[in-house]
Amino acid sequence: MPGRLAIKRVKFGIPKLDRAMNGGIPKGSAVVVCGPPGSGKTILSLQFLVNGATMFNEPGVYVALEEVKKDIIDQAAVFGWDIENLEEENKLNVVELKRDEIPLFDDKLSEIKKEIKPQRFVLDSITFYYTYALLHTYTKEYARAQQELLIQDGAEITHPLVARTTITELIRKLKSLGFTSLLTSEISGSQPYYTRDQLSEFIADGVVLMDYLEFGEDEFRSIKIVKMRKTGHEVKHIPFEITSKGIEIREL
Ligand SMILES: Nc1ncnc2c1ncn2[C@@H]1O[C@H](COP(=O)(O)OP(=O)(O)O)[C@@H](O)[C@H]1O
Ligand SMILES: [Mg+2]
Repeated sequence: MPGRLAIKRVKFGIPKLDRAMNGGIPKGSAVVVCGPPGSGKTILSLQFLVNGATMFNEPGVYVALEEVKKDIIDQAAVFGWDIENLEEENKLNVVELKRDEIPLFDDKLSEIKKEIKPQRFVLDSITFYYTYALLHTYTKEYARAQQELLIQDGAEITHPLVARTTITELIRKLKSLGFTSLLTSEISGSQPYYTRDQLSEFIADGVVLMDYLEFGEDEFRSIKIVKMRKTGHEVKHIPFEITSKGIEIREL
């Protein structure tokens, strides 16, 4: 009789957070990290990769769409994380993705897999990725190529269709390469959805929400696991701080 499938875990290296999902993210998952600006999405993603490289010997790749590489390196240095050194040791690579590279991203991911063999992957952000993909779909050759493809299917190019195909294909590709991925996503407080594309939260294996909470006079940062396939997890808000060491879960 087949036994229960033992799920391999990919740890943040932040003990309370890992425990909150029974030991870490199920390996191979694509997880959306969403929240308003300044909520800590980029810092958590960097910490996931730096801890992966230094604590678990799991190489990672960070793909930056919003910020230039130098800013990422400088932000990490504030917490004592030496990205350049990790790059030299082939344990972490920061890749800047330009707008016109989006249509070729699928090939680029295959290249990354072959050359770097990462286990962890971060795309910061899926919001920019989706916006750029939309822009491309309405421009020049890419539009024509897409149009031919879609006309064959008898389908009309619409925003929801572009969203569905770009996001679905991206997540499918990341999973097929075996990466455990974090995809950051910008949201504003008034939004009923966790992602601006209103879609990746359904397609992704997990959703982690970073937010600010008011508690009487006190206001604090909170992280909450909204969804995580293949594992049990806590559903309550976990208060945290950003300190000189990065993200630290607050002791209550
Ligand atoms: N050294 C630090 N000490 C404390 N807080 C910091 C430090 N560096 C950055 N922060 C906090 O982190 C925030 C930025 O986090 P970030 O992960 O870039 O947000 P997001 O990617 O969600 O927009 C800043 O607005 C600031 O509040
Ligand atoms: Mg950010």
